[in-house]
Amino acid sequence: MDVLVVVGAVDLPQRLAARARHLTHVDDGEATPSLIVELRSRIPREVGVIGAGAEAKKLAIALHRAGLPVTLHTDDEMHIDGIDVVPITDRGAPMAVAQSLLDLVGNTPLVRLDVVGRDLGCHLLAKLEFLNPGGSVKDRPALAMIDAAERQGLLGPGGTIVEPTSGNTGVGLAIVAARRRYRCIFVMPDKVASEKISLLRAYGAEVVVCPTTVAPEHPDSYYSVSDRLAREIPGAYKPNQYQNQDNPLSHELSTGPEIWQQTAGRITHFVAGVGTGGTITGVARYLKAQNPAIQIIGADPEGSVYSGGTGRPYLVEGIGEDFWPGTYDPSVIDRVVAVSDRDSFLTARRVTREEGILVGGSAGTAVWVALHIGRDLQPSDVVVVLIPDSGRGYLSKLYDEKWLADFGFLRAIGHTVGDVLGRKGGRIPELIHVHPDELVRDAISLLREFEISQVPVVKAELPLSAAEVVGAVHDRGLMERAFHDPTILDRPVGESMDPALPAIGIGEPVSLAVERLEASPAILVLDAGHPVGVLTRSDVLNFLAQTGTT
Ligand SMILES: Cc1ncc(COP(=O)(O)O)c(C=O)c1O
Repeated sequence: MDVLVVVGAVDLPQRLAARARHLTHVDDGEATPSLIVELRSRIPREVGVIGAGAEAKKLAIALHRAGLPVTLHTDDEMHIDGIDVVPITDRGAPMAVAQSLLDLVGNTPLVRLDVVGRDLGCHLLAKLEFLNPGGSVKDRPALAMIDAAERQGLLGPGGTIVEPTSGNTGVGLAIVAARRRYRCIFVMPDKVASEKISLLRAYGAEVVVCPTTVAPEHPDSYYSVSDRLAREIPGAYKPNQYQNQDNPLSHELSTGPEIWQQTAGRITHFVAGVGTGGTITGVARYLKAQNPAIQIIGADPEGSVYSGGTGRPYLVEGIGEDFWPGTYDPSVIDRVVAVSDRDSFLTARRVTREEGILVGGSAGTAVWVALHIGRDLQPSDVVVVLIPDSGRGYLSKLYDEKWLADFGFLRAIGHTVGDVLGRKGGRIPELIHVHPDELVRDAISLLREFEISQVPVVKAELPLSAAEVVGAVHDRGLMERAFHDPTILDRPVGESMDPALPAIGIGEPVSLAVERLEASPAILVLDAGHPVGVLTRSDVLNFLAQTGTT
């Protein structure tokens, strides 16, 4: 149907609204000239009319007389020459069918993790949030935030949704936007898996990618860019999942009650990763209201603020923060446990292989915590761990052996990069580095002091994360620059640095180090995502001379 004219206040059936290309609301059955002009301008093949009783009929007849092809939607029996009369109510037997995908959000199942939890005495149950129609726990707050914005008049027909999101909230919002005809723009950091970006674009959303390495208040940060877009685009609405109380509320009204009912009120411990904190806060509020003794435990990447970190980068996606969002309520959380990237990734892979449940990295973080606390629990204890999303979005990361090896999470058979590094002076030497604000003159002294030719430039202190390495300086590059412009010696390293050294995992074979050193004079060694040393051609030659083997 090209246009549906709604007469007066009627309960518009979803099926009709969905099938109309345009909706027009009028107060009564008067076919005003402006209405006829508007309808004719659309050159319609079908104009639907729906409304209460006589007024709708009057309008249908008037529009028909004006030469428009009219269909009247009514449950009243009637025949009008030249007008199709179609019943609103489907008279057949009711079918088991949802009105739209949005009606399928929530009501996810619980499943036992008995294989992974074989050593625990307690019940270990997983809440499978990846079975939501958009593939993650974020469908719940996304739908709730948009429903609330529409109710409050903050978002309306032709509007645009703008949100900074690392992917899953974006999918939730994109599903709602597609069904309700909103434009969608998502702003996200560059560490997000490329599959997630393609996924959002597949739903018709626009994606803006920003650097991860800048502070949240920086104008290029993904938080700042989304604020600017929301200000500049007319009719734009930013749900702001980090402050919007409909985010935790959606879990208080759905996820929490579902878990309580599914466990027959027997739940004793709830474990979830913390991103915005919406999930854990909302679920905690509901569960604690039923039984204040239920323990609420957050699972957090090492480095994130929730478990006492300073917001240093880590590799797990979707959880942990470098600031305190308004959607996290620490008063309802009993404990937060920090988990390394290695433990998160290896646990996610275990769940996938041992249970046949393909889960994302943040599920690995949560299950690791559940296994950790479960060791001290009794047979009557019931632990529920929330699985936020599936591993489908991470096939090129934690499920890719090459990616894991490059970050130093896997160890090859035979001599490895770690063995070469270990031979440098008998033990793994501390990583020599400079900061971007140090003077070039001081970087040169450092190169001379340690008799090295290059040094990584890093923006934090040891132990570092890979994302904190911002570049490198080489004696050759500095010499050339200083020859042309001697003033650079008293300027910061950040202005004269080259791109970062190529990286290699600590467990990768020596043969790969040889290959990488053909293209670069030095390589940066990563151990479980942390830079631990630099290898040069002479380091590898010394190693080969000492061991006589690769
Ligand atoms: C993969 C993944 N896990 C966990 C979470 C955490 O959920 P919440 O923001 O409700 O704390 C998110 C949130 O974006 C996520 O994307």
